[in-house]
Amino acid sequence: MGLDTGSTRSPKLDIGLDPNDRRPLYVQIADQLVEAVESERLRPGDRLPAMRDLAEQLDCALVTVSQAYDLVAARGRVTSRVGKGTFVSEAPAHNAEFARRWEPDVGRFARAERMEGVLEQLTRATVPGAITLAAGHPAPETFPLHDFGRAMHRTLLDDPPESMQYRSTTGDRDLCETLAGLLRTRGCNASQNEIVVCSGAQQAADLVANVVLEQRSVVAAESPAYAGTLGVFDARGVTYVEVQGDVDGVRVDDVERVFSEYRPRLFYLNPIAQNPTGAVLPQRRAKQIVALARRYDVVILEDQTGWQLTYDAAAPPPLASFDTDGRVILLESLSKSIFPALRIGYLYCRGTLNDALELAKVRADVFTSTLIQRALWRFMTSPSYARHVRAARTLYRDRRDAFMEALTEDLPWAGVRPPSAGVNVWLPLPPRISTRAAFEECAREGVLVMPADPFYPTRTGPPAIRLSFGNLPEREAREGVRRVARALQRAGATNAPAAAST
Ligand SMILES: Cc1ncc(COP(=O)(O)O)c(C=O)c1O
Repeated sequence: MGLDTGSTRSPKLDIGLDPNDRRPLYVQIADQLVEAVESERLRPGDRLPAMRDLAEQLDCALVTVSQAYDLVAARGRVTSRVGKGTFVSEAPAHNAEFARRWEPDVGRFARAERMEGVLEQLTRATVPGAITLAAGHPAPETFPLHDFGRAMHRTLLDDPPESMQYRSTTGDRDLCETLAGLLRTRGCNASQNEIVVCSGAQQAADLVANVVLEQRSVVAAESPAYAGTLGVFDARGVTYVEVQGDVDGVRVDDVERVFSEYRPRLFYLNPIAQNPTGAVLPQRRAKQIVALARRYDVVILEDQTGWQLTYDAAAPPPLASFDTDGRVILLESLSKSIFPALRIGYLYCRGTLNDALELAKVRADVFTSTLIQRALWRFMTSPSYARHVRAARTLYRDRRDAFMEALTEDLPWAGVRPPSAGVNVWLPLPPRISTRAAFEECAREGVLVMPADPFYPTRTGPPAIRLSFGNLPEREAREGVRRVARALQRAGATNAPAAAST
């Protein structure tokens, strides 16, 4: 290890690139740097080699080394000083001698919350009279509480006491059979023992991460994507590669580019009622993506939440219906189609993945409330269920149409595409308006919107906001859009005509 002049060490590093390694080059470099710090070959205060020198040494592009240094900085191991170089960070406090300042190391990824700042921003901006287009919540007037209450009552009266005993299965058999039956109507060859009932989609995603991912696994995700699931993956310390899409969801050519270049472990997408864009992935693309996953050995996690809220055509079959070797995991939450307080979601997949997920579920919380599962089964097998889904879809479709009419009138420059499903509209902003400026102008105007950044897997991307209309009566939604139009005009959307004040 050669030392630099002065007191700063700049050890020569023994780093190599392996063309057969599945990790992207920059991840390989970053992992070796982190390992050098952890094994103390690099010590606090040491300077990393100049990027150009390392790129030359490794015979790779400068940008590859630069991405690697960024990644190591993001992992908290080095800091860059402008004009001086990149230095190994001081050892974290827990390595210091035990002292009163000791605090548990909860890990960088647990602290770096994806929604950090956004929730505070929303709370600060919530004033009396503010209209919120920020929360993609379902409409409580659709919640089938009366019918569910009857199902719950019957469960308590009619089910034998043993059914409320500790369970050895990972889902109530009757409910699993009902869920599998619904999947069969959608082209999946599903059986009840391939379902794992979970405490909401959030736990389902966590179990998948638990089973499939390791620290630094490469995860491909559509961009933008549902931030709740991304937050789960963040906590594992994964590296993201973003897959680009168009109005119909992810583009197959980009899926192939990402699979072949990065060999991700997992690909996460939300094919129907895509949150936040509302896109519906055509069946042809779904089939091609499963074929690509097979070719490049990628596990797919498809989030089918919202498949019942398609407005213009029947929902296409899930990717799982094209799966031939048990590499597609289907996840669905019933929060949107029934109500969130159920905290019911499920996973469907086959073979060894299914076995591993069942074990992970038992480790996590043994089983999800049988009381709720049994009542849900009664509700879902009663005529009330189909009626409820029809009524909810009609209400949301009417709200979507009115919302789109308001957007077309008040923000004609935006050219927003109507979502084919779900309760969200994605509004890309002109490049001269930052997401933050749009958020703040909207808040000043008395309307809350969701900033784009948490939806980007890498947390940065083109300026945009998400507007959710599901939980707003039409009159309020229209007024919300008027306020957004006025705010964006003030923020600099020059072609925006002034929306009438009310
Ligand atoms: C795509 C998607 N998946 C999952 C969820 C949440 O599911 P749960 O309430 O079951 O955690 C949502 C809620 O907004 C969602 O939009």
